[in-house]
Amino acid sequence: MEKIVSLCKRRGFIMQSSEIYGGLNGCWDYGPLGTELKRNLKDFWWRRMVRERDDIVGMDGSILMNRQVWVASGHEATFSDPMVDCRNCNSRLRADQLPERDGKRYCPVCGSFDLTEARAFNLMFKTYVGATEDESAITYLRPETAQAIFVQFKSILEVSRKKLPFGIAQIGKAFRNEINPRNFTFRSREFEQMELEYFCRPEDGVELLEYWLKERLKFYEEIGISSDLLHVHQIAPDERAHYSQGTYDIEFEFPFGVQELEGVAYRTDYDLSQHQKASGKSLEYFDEETGQHFVPHVVEPSAGVDRTVLALICAAFCEETITDQKGKAETRIVLKFHPRMAPIKCGIFPLLKNNERLVGQAREIVELLRPHMMVFYDESGAIGRRYRRQDEVGTPFGVTVDFDTIGENGPSNQETVTIRERDSMKQVRVPIGELKSVLVDRIS
Ligand code: GAP
Repeated sequence: MEKIVSLCKRRGFIMQSSEIYGGLNGCWDYGPLGTELKRNLKDFWWRRMVRERDDIVGMDGSILMNRQVWVASGHEATFSDPMVDCRNCNSRLRADQLPERDGKRYCPVCGSFDLTEARAFNLMFKTYVGATEDESAITYLRPETAQAIFVQFKSILEVSRKKLPFGIAQIGKAFRNEINPRNFTFRSREFEQMELEYFCRPEDGVELLEYWLKERLKFYEEIGISSDLLHVHQIAPDERAHYSQGTYDIEFEFPFGVQELEGVAYRTDYDLSQHQKASGKSLEYFDEETGQHFVPHVVEPSAGVDRTVLALICAAFCEETITDQKGKAETRIVLKFHPRMAPIKCGIFPLLKNNERLVGQAREIVELLRPHMMVFYDESGAIGRRYRRQDEVGTPFGVTVDFDTIGENGPSNQETVTIRERDSMKQVRVPIGELKSVLVDRIS
């Protein structure tokens, strides 16, 4: 994990928020490459969940909502973790994550057994809306994106003119005042979720839970997270929320242990019924075929963007020993991202920087490819070092413009370039005219 955190910082994937002031615990900034990676993940989720389907539409809700949303959903009363304080070092700790010695729980910071009784600590960030800081102005930063979907269910049903089963998808920020943010971005206080609420008839809920579990597992394969690294944990009936009729956690083998990436839950009609009761507004669906009115049930696949980005980096990270042309062994650090997810798709290199024709041709290739993918032009240093720099950030392809390209070794390879593949390090020669289509095929 240390190597991954250091690579993320060194190459501008992820860094501490407000670092020059000592940071803010549980908050992270994504640098240029991290931002591209995150965007590729969110775009692909949106493509699979919304654009390529007739039965799902999108929305983008506000982060601040009427406080009554959080009263009705149960978050204000119960969205809490049990917390204890260490009387010796004043650390505030999650009561359910304390280490034990001789059957007694102790403080992992100072080792003291002198801990307070556990008490509930609400994880929502409280804030005031408007100029007065009194009780009537209180609301919260949303701890999940899902509630915006539930409270807009009826309007979106009407405007989209969908019939059950149908879903509403959303990607957006969520905030939780976690007691112990830890494991890099894994448990943060500010993070993003990709959530789908898939509304259905009550009799279809159990089957759709299985369907969505399969769909979501397929998604992880498609972004390059192998099923070997994933685990499906079925939550036992006595451990899941009282309203849930089935919940799966999709877990990933992080270097710090097997941990949740996404929950897929059959939440019955709990959320819509709660909001219907509290708001007094009907959230029922009218079934034209049977003439019945009822509150739809819902299956919810809820994934974390930041956790999936971290899983993508962990799954891609490789240290390999390779031998160079002189037979010398060296370590190659490479992020083996699926080309779909890679922040930069193609590095473009003139063999030498002080040759105008090589540089001119390479610059033309940059312009040719730029409308279709993220490219990176690099002319500095030996070509081998330039390849290594791109390997380290996971760029799947490297295009080199050499003397064959500009016809200095005869006409046979003129107007061709080499494409080097990151993982095999093999090179193939391709006419410049075919370059765009060859690469676009490989990254989409
Ligand atoms: N609407 C259901 C819901 O929010 P959750 O299991 O609490 O369910 C869903 O959250 C996903 O959001 C998690 O599987 C995880 O990927 C992500 N997530 C939750 N808390 C997080 C945190 N503190 N930091 C980063 N990601 C988090």
